[in-house]
Amino acid sequence: MKRWFSIVLFWVSAFLITGLTVGFPPEHAAVFSREAVAADHAEASKAGAEILSEGGNAADAAAATMLALGVVNPASSGLGGGGFALYYRASDRSLTFLDFRERAPRAASRTMFEVETADAEGPASSPSQLGGLAAGVPGEPAGIEALVQRFGKLSLREVIAPALRLAKQGFEVSKALGAMGSAFSIQLSKDPVMAAWDLRAGTTLRRPSLARVLRAFAEKGAAVIYGGVIGQEIASSVQEHGGIMTLQDLRAYRVRTREPLETNAFGYRWVTAPPPSAGGFTMIQSLSILEHAVGPRPSYGAPLLHAMAESWKGPFLDRQRYFGDPDQVILPLDKMMDASRIDARAKLVADGKAHPSADYDLPIEWTRTKVAAPDNAGTSHLCVVDAEGNVASVTTTVNLPFGARFTGGGIVMNDEMDDFASGIGETNAFGLVGGARNLPGPWKRPVSTMSPTIVFDDGKPALCVGASGGSRIVTAAQQVAMNVLLHGMSAAEAVAAPRIHHQGVPETLRVEKVAPLDSALQDALVALGHRVEPIHNVANVQLIYVEHSAERKLEAASDPRKGGRPAGR
Ligand code: DON
Repeated sequence: MKRWFSIVLFWVSAFLITGLTVGFPPEHAAVFSREAVAADHAEASKAGAEILSEGGNAADAAAATMLALGVVNPASSGLGGGGFALYYRASDRSLTFLDFRERAPRAASRTMFEVETADAEGPASSPSQLGGLAAGVPGEPAGIEALVQRFGKLSLREVIAPALRLAKQGFEVSKALGAMGSAFSIQLSKDPVMAAWDLRAGTTLRRPSLARVLRAFAEKGAAVIYGGVIGQEIASSVQEHGGIMTLQDLRAYRVRTREPLETNAFGYRWVTAPPPSAGGFTMIQSLSILEHAVGPRPSYGAPLLHAMAESWKGPFLDRQRYFGDPDQVILPLDKMMDASRIDARAKLVADGKAHPSADYDLPIEWTRTKVAAPDNAGTSHLCVVDAEGNVASVTTTVNLPFGARFTGGGIVMNDEMDDFASGIGETNAFGLVGGARNLPGPWKRPVSTMSPTIVFDDGKPALCVGASGGSRIVTAAQQVAMNVLLHGMSAAEAVAAPRIHHQGVPETLRVEKVAPLDSALQDALVALGHRVEPIHNVANVQLIYVEHSAERKLEAASDPRKGGRPAGR
């Protein structure tokens, strides 16, 4: 009951953001010729563009943008969170996926969230969402360092400079942050750092305690956050808030490099996030099913929207049944992508009626659960394309707004533990049903929907795309990509267009109130058997479309639903 209550409140507060943007002013998109950054906050895009103009490349700029986002929107991401980066290096055409997702403390257990607690006040307040147990070991500092050291041209100090300046000199509180601040004000008032913030939109906010951490990070690298005084402060704060994270957990954190997932569909090569994201899998399976079900050149309309909604039902069931941390459970990815399963699902999709999700359930003949020992060891999407043709597609998060709503060492701590199954069959804040493989465990990474993606056309990067918005990340990113690549929309139009969402459970096709679907289309979907529910969609998509014509053109767009602006030249 409490969890249900917190889910409702989360979406209500999310509405506060999306509700502000009805009307979609045109400034959310711009066209550049040399280099571009699309983040969900104007200051963050500018920080990335500044680094590009100083000679940094896409990796440096993505790191600077992430760092700035953590300053100007602590509700969505920051050093206390984690994420995924997909990086394309033009010089050798290599693709690298950096997994800097948070992971559970060593003392985590399958049953750690099967606890009865006194009701905490305010939204999103179950033990996996609020307080010390909710926080996973942050991956963001190590991820930023890895991105800059492996692929960047500048020093960490140079890349951190714009964020440090924003933290010291202050920045204007955005409408999005102001709305989140008021939705979560009771909980924020209990943290000594966040209680001091004036989060009314338009006021200037300075973040001196974060500036101290950024300065230390610039001088000594990520180790200073995973150890020493700052690490000790983080571990102590987590423990004071009832958590089990230790300094040893922080010291043992490691970024993982993984092989991205990819598929060819609709004439493009789509490269996206591998496990522990289930988002990338959902996208590539949906695209494969769609190509079979609707043919290679589908036009926009009710049959395609119907097919998309149906195509997501099976992958979301697979996620529930099979997904977990790939370092700790064996994931039958090849079997899940087997042509016979795609054929079977495509046949159902093509028969032109809405099926119960269970019709798409195709259990795999295979039951082994894991086993290698763990190795010792609010969200924001951004895209950068630089003048050399490098592309960074990065999604970063503290999970729910302001993460676990406490700070450690001046850093807002994530509540990524809510992405684990708190029990088998239990739903998380995004209504995703928990499966056995995604129960918490020592140093385990929770399954994610984050899907940073790069799409290639004839060997050249054509589109960088990704989203925030929990379970809607993948469906939103996929639709916006299809809007550009299949339906010929500009980046500005593609991101503003209405979207649908289906995640199998519940059996409801979500449409947006903030960007209403054409009523004839909606009626057609109802006639096909879909139960349509209008909601204030909270997915926020950023993208850059690269047009390789005689004149290079970069169409960059930030989602008008969150009020971001791209930057570049
Ligand atoms: O990793 C995930 O899938 C979630 N932690 C993302 C959370 C999110 O997008 C919150 N957003 N608005």
